[in-house]
Amino acid sequence: MAQIETHEYDVLVIGAGGAGLRAAIEASASGLSVGLVCKSLLGKAHTVMAEGGIAASLANVDQRDNWKVHFADTMRGGQYLNNWRMAELHAREAPERVRELEAWGALFDRTKDGRILQRNFGGHKYPRLAHVGDRTGLEMIRTLQDHGIHQGIEVHVECTITTLLKDDTRVAGGFGYDREKGRFKLFHAKAIILATGGIGRAYKITSNSWEYTGDGLALAYQAGADLMDMEFVQFHPTGMVWPPSVQGILVTESVRGEGGILLNKDGRRFMFEDIPELYRNQTADNEEEGWRYTQGDPDARRPPELLTRDHIARCIVREIKEGRASPHGGVYLDISWIKKRLPNAEEIIKKKLPSMYHQFKQLADIDITKEAMEVGPTTHYMMGGVRVDADTQMSTVPGLYAAGECAAGLHGANRLGGNSLSDLLVFGRRAGEHAARFAKEHGAARIDDKRVEEAASAVLKPFEPDGDPRGANPFQVQYDLQEMMQKLVGIVRKEDEMRQAVDELQKLRERAVRVRANGNREYNPGWHTALDLVNLLTVSQMIALAALERKESRGAHFREDYPNKSDTFGKCNIVVRKDADGRMAISRLPTSELRADLKLIVEEMK
Ligand code: FUM
Repeated sequence: MAQIETHEYDVLVIGAGGAGLRAAIEASASGLSVGLVCKSLLGKAHTVMAEGGIAASLANVDQRDNWKVHFADTMRGGQYLNNWRMAELHAREAPERVRELEAWGALFDRTKDGRILQRNFGGHKYPRLAHVGDRTGLEMIRTLQDHGIHQGIEVHVECTITTLLKDDTRVAGGFGYDREKGRFKLFHAKAIILATGGIGRAYKITSNSWEYTGDGLALAYQAGADLMDMEFVQFHPTGMVWPPSVQGILVTESVRGEGGILLNKDGRRFMFEDIPELYRNQTADNEEEGWRYTQGDPDARRPPELLTRDHIARCIVREIKEGRASPHGGVYLDISWIKKRLPNAEEIIKKKLPSMYHQFKQLADIDITKEAMEVGPTTHYMMGGVRVDADTQMSTVPGLYAAGECAAGLHGANRLGGNSLSDLLVFGRRAGEHAARFAKEHGAARIDDKRVEEAASAVLKPFEPDGDPRGANPFQVQYDLQEMMQKLVGIVRKEDEMRQAVDELQKLRERAVRVRANGNREYNPGWHTALDLVNLLTVSQMIALAALERKESRGAHFREDYPNKSDTFGKCNIVVRKDADGRMAISRLPTSELRADLKLIVEEMK
């Protein structure tokens, strides 16, 4: 067998963004040995793309806020497909997690009387996002890293796990390789936490960087775990559209939270024209009232630019399709208009949105204090993922946990902005705590050498194309996949296109089997891409099949052929798992009855 570097831990955490770091900190705090695997460099995580803030009902800016309102907002935003117990735990525990982060050194913006400042965000009834300008995710990662580094966690940077290994039914370890030299690594672990983030790289236009190829979801699937809600892909309404080299880069929702408005090419504020029933009584129908809300008037309703992301993304697509797009195929997002209202607007914009100011100045030569930005939807977040127990975050495979974006349940059909950072903290901590408990209660598991050999030869396969000297170019296959998913399983979906996507996926899989990596194992991006492709194709298949199964429109999943919600589908989640024959099986899992006290909260808040 090829040379393998071996490590042994009580708990192995795969993924070092907010959820992974928080889980690792918790597990190691209970005195266990913890290994943390990071596909990229430590600190480079999609967490930093949650720029606008952490949602938590601290009630520092509006005293009417509390966990119940946050819970109700999250359920409404997720169109009631959320795992209600997760939504409850999240809303109850988020404030404590934010205070803890502050105690660990996070430097939040402040109210005049020195408390953590909170801002408005889409779908949140009150100003709820604790923030650091428009760099909140970055501050969170910095704080968790600084804190975690002193806990004795062993970090493996630039390492990809390609296979989870099991001892009978229970998880026993992970096999992977270091991306720099291509050396194999084997991790024995009593419990494993997946915190690998999302799947953005399955699409052409995305805010996600190269790491987000659905690794944790594919690993869990191959290990026999259930996945859920894979049809719900969040297209953030505002990504950059120009110049082409930066297409998809996130333009934070904080721009709208601070008063930014959306306009079409005719200068019309189109969001006033389509306010969904569910939000009608909470949404302003004129500029004046929306502005008063932005400025903290407790009697005003929020502007339509702060409706949920799924709805705004669709409205933008409609403007573009109907010929009212900006010159580069998006719409305008204007924060400079607040000059009309505030004499020191320029200074405020630079203070509240420093990253956006620099991003547009440097990448697009646009001064956002003076001109509107051009924006369009960008694939940002996966609501679906590994099906977990709400309290412990354990998957359906014993000893295997998932937290953060790669776990399903909290967000239902659509996530509210800011709920991701609180999700990472609340459920990262829970996953760490319960994985540690599992590790303490269970002895070491056994790893079969034969499985390790199989994992190693699968990783080397791109160097040995099956008798086809031309092989296939992994970058080209990935590019074709992204184009296809964007076109056929994007924001607006329909049956025939998704069926075509399933056929295309089959062809892409046939090409992927033949992909060839040139050169050797050191610093070889072609090889890495060939291996990432396996995961990308697996998650894309899940998305397409789950989306075909859900014959209705709800949250982020919009079907032109079924434009309305259906009672049947409002009562079930779509589950994906590998069946006994190794095929991808789709089923419907009835949602559980909302607990009576929570039902009352939801009813009251309506
Ligand atoms: O727009 C944003 O700042 C993103 C936040 C989030 O995804 O939670």
